Amino acid sequence: MRIFVTGASGFIGSAVMPELLGGGHEVVGLARSDASAEALRSLWADVLRGSLDDLDVLRDGASQADGVIHLAFNHDFTQFAAAAQTDLRAIESIGRALEGTGKPLVIASGLVGLAPGQVVTEDHPFPSGANSPMGPRALGAHAALGLAERRVRSSVVRLAMSVHDDIKRGFVGTLIDIARQKGVAGYVGDGSNRWPAVHRLDAARLFRLALESAPAGSIWHGVGDEGVPLKEIAENIGRHLNVPVASIPAEDAAAHFGWLALLIGADAPASSARTQELLGWTPTHRGLIADLEQGRFFIETEGKN
Ligand SMILES: NC(=O)c1ccc[n+]([C@@H]2O[C@H](COP(=O)([O-])OP(=O)(O)OC[C@H]3O[C@@H](n4cnc5c(N)ncnc54)[C@H](OP(=O)(O)O)[C@@H]3O)[C@@H](O)[C@H]2O)c1
Repeated sequence: MRIFVTGASGFIGSAVMPELLGGGHEVVGLARSDASAEALRSLWADVLRGSLDDLDVLRDGASQADGVIHLAFNHDFTQFAAAAQTDLRAIESIGRALEGTGKPLVIASGLVGLAPGQVVTEDHPFPSGANSPMGPRALGAHAALGLAERRVRSSVVRLAMSVHDDIKRGFVGTLIDIARQKGVAGYVGDGSNRWPAVHRLDAARLFRLALESAPAGSIWHGVGDEGVPLKEIAENIGRHLNVPVASIPAEDAAAHFGWLALLIGADAPASSARTQELLGWTPTHRGLIADLEQGRFFIETEGKN
């Protein structure tokens, strides 16, 4: 199939690309800059120039493809609501181009705040209001799932909070940066709250499998580690950076963690049992702690997260 991929130049997208090509697909990647276009060409993809705000470009890319994987998202979390709105408009535009065709659309989403205190399964719905940490972003997921009624084979891959490899940035990279800046590897409370994780290459394979066979309106979980206690993550960071590990009092969390304070206490364990059974997906790559133990994570990300 010829697949239109947004976010193809990103951390996960750059692993999805070879996964698709290796599966016999052709790829057209959306690129908003020369650097991203060059990165895509170096991965053997065709390039469609434009941004998520260029809705005509998104419609063209989708209508000329046999399927779409939508990964692009603005990760400036201080602009989260605006980014979620952009995401929603992009999904609606891609959806209009695909409706009535039965073609696949797979989008990425997250797992935070879906079922506090429980292990989140594929059965847990997205929240309907905007009052959870995931609130505004859930609108895009609802829009994608709703396309199933308009003959789009749409599905949503809910990714673990930490998608990682041995040099990964992301939320754990942000925690490392904060530990460097503050001289303390912090957690909140007793640190028993759990962050799920998945290796980037396992996540990439899941996107291909969902593209190829997910039924319309389905939800899948890109989760390898069900939940890693935050204290264990902080202890690992403290050991590698040689800084103390400490619980940060709730009243100091915003000053210490910045925007990550919204997520730092999240207890979001999640299962991928259904995904593994029905899509035949098995996470085979290293878990988060094993990746952290590689140490490269700390050396090669210095100043880059
Ligand atoms: N990484 C994680 O831990 C994690 C966890 C849960 C969910 N997710 C979701 O998985 C998806 C992929 O994440 P990622 O980690 O690969 O993200 P990333 O490394 O930040 O890459 C983001 C991608 O989106 C593109 N992009 C951002 N804003 C754009 C815009 N306005 N127009 C066009 N392209 C735009 C970027 O293009 P440029 O190359 O031009 O910057 C880049 O290709 C996202 O939806 C993310 O929210 C990720």
